[in-house]
Formats: sequence, C-alpha cells, structure tokens
Amino acid sequence: MIRDPSADSRIKAEDIRRRKGGVPIVCLTAYTYPVARLLDPHVDLLLVGDSVAMVLHGHATTLGASLEMMIAHGQAVMRGSANACVVVDMPAGSYETSPAQAVAAARRIVEETDCQAVKLEGGVDMAAQIAAIVAEGIPVMGHIGLQPQSVEKDGGYKIKGRTRDNIAALLRDAEAVEKEGAFAVVIEGTMEAVAAKLTRHVSIPTIGIGASADCDGQILVIDDMVGMTVDRVPKFVKEYADLRSVIADAAARYAADVRSRAFPGPDHVFTTASGKDET
Ligand code: KIV
Repeated sequence: MIRDPSADSRIKAEDIRRRKGGVPIVCLTAYTYPVARLLDPHVDLLLVGDSVAMVLHGHATTLGASLEMMIAHGQAVMRGSANACVVVDMPAGSYETSPAQAVAAARRIVEETDCQAVKLEGGVDMAAQIAAIVAEGIPVMGHIGLQPQSVEKDGGYKIKGRTRDNIAALLRDAEAVEKEGAFAVVIEGTMEAVAAKLTRHVSIPTIGIGASADCDGQILVIDDMVGMTVDRVPKFVKEYADLRSVIADAAARYAADVRSRAFPGPDHVFTTASGKDET
C-alpha cells in the first residue's frame, strides 16, 4: 500500500518543490542507519543513491546496484531519519524497459521502504516512465546531465553542456522531466553556465552536483564530503573532513595497543567487586 504522505512530519516532496528559488535545498546521500541519524538534523533531503554500489559495495560503477540493495539501504536510512525527505534511487535495469516496469519497481521501493520519493536518470527518453510513476501517486526526482548509469555507454564520466547541440538536448531533458511531473531534478556534471540556465528554465528546483551554485540546491555523496573516499575524489567535491586519516590513525593505535596488551585496559574488562577470581 502506498503511504499517506501527510501522515508524518517529515519534509515531503511537495515541500521541496515549493522551495524553488528560495533558500538553497541541502541534500546529501546516505546509505546506512548511523549516518542517516547524524545527517538528518542538518539536511532537507537524503538520497539513498545507487552510488551505494560503488561507495559501500566496491563495484566499479553504479550498475552494480540492485533493487534489493536499494531497498535494504532505503529501509536503514528511513529508520535513521525523522525529518528529511528520503528519496531512493531506482537502479539501472529496474525501469528503462517500459512504464509498467518502472511503476512496478517504484511501487516496490515505496512499499518496502516507506520513502517519500524515487529518483531515476533520464530526460526525454524516460518521460513516459516519469509520467507513469507520478500517475501512481509516487513523487519522482529526475536526474539529467551526466548520468552515471550511462557511463559505460557514454565511454566514461563526460561533462555535459559543452556544445550548442548538447545544451539544447539538456534543455529538452529538463523540460520533459518538469512536464511529466517530477518535483525536482538533479543536474550532474554540467558546465556552470548551463546549469544556471537550466535552473532559470524550469519551474521545479534543480539540485546541482558538479553543476552551479545557482542551482536551487546542492547534493554530494556523503563519503566524498567527509573525506572517506579512498579512490579518486572528483573535482567538484569539497571535503569538509578527513575521515580517511581519522580511521587510519585509530586503526594504527588500536593495533599497537592490542600487540602491546595495552588494550583492553582496566576500564574495558569486567571484574568482581573484590577483584578476586570468583569463578
Ligand atoms: O547515486 C547518487 O549518489 C546520485 C547523486 C550523485 C546525485 O545519484
């Protein structure tokens, strides 16, 4: 059964839609319960991105995400949050074939996670899918520009909007996503001026990643933002912490303590009141 979106006090997709042109919308990805708990007081929207396949599961691309993976992480993020609008990505292979396939997958995601909305990649080519899911009463977030699910087809992570034809195509994609009823659209990996133009062009909020400060909101992958990414950090990422060093340092100190028997110390073991062995 599709949930009644008015039944809780979370930020809803419709609230996000109304934020067009206002205070920038703060979005981050989240994949786990503890991270959702930490982020929830600070953000408007948590995206359970299919980047989870790369970030947490070590796949080379987001094509490693499955519907079951997205649902399991969506459930964890819903358990860990009470305020944010939670959006779950539709993984590659779950929606492109037909509107009926897209509706079935979107229904499953919403029914099994209770999330507020789903996100899918594509513009003009996915218009029918967006329309069909919206007609089911499930809010949809679009995703245009660089589409990670298409990187193999595109021959890599290529910035969009460098040619006149490509800018025209992006404008058509943004129009299609808006016309079919999406409440917001992610614009990824696009020339700054083009992202600003797209933002002025549509009446729904644009959420930028590698796009422009003129977008209506911003999103980053949480592991990139906190300095946990162990491979290449993309140019558009600003690292607000260095958890790589924090974790490596903690692991090195723990290893030294175990090897020298400094851990566990008196505070970390259970003793009888007398301190004598009463077993
Ligand atoms: O999967 C993801 O993390 C995303 C964001 C990069 C927008 O789609």
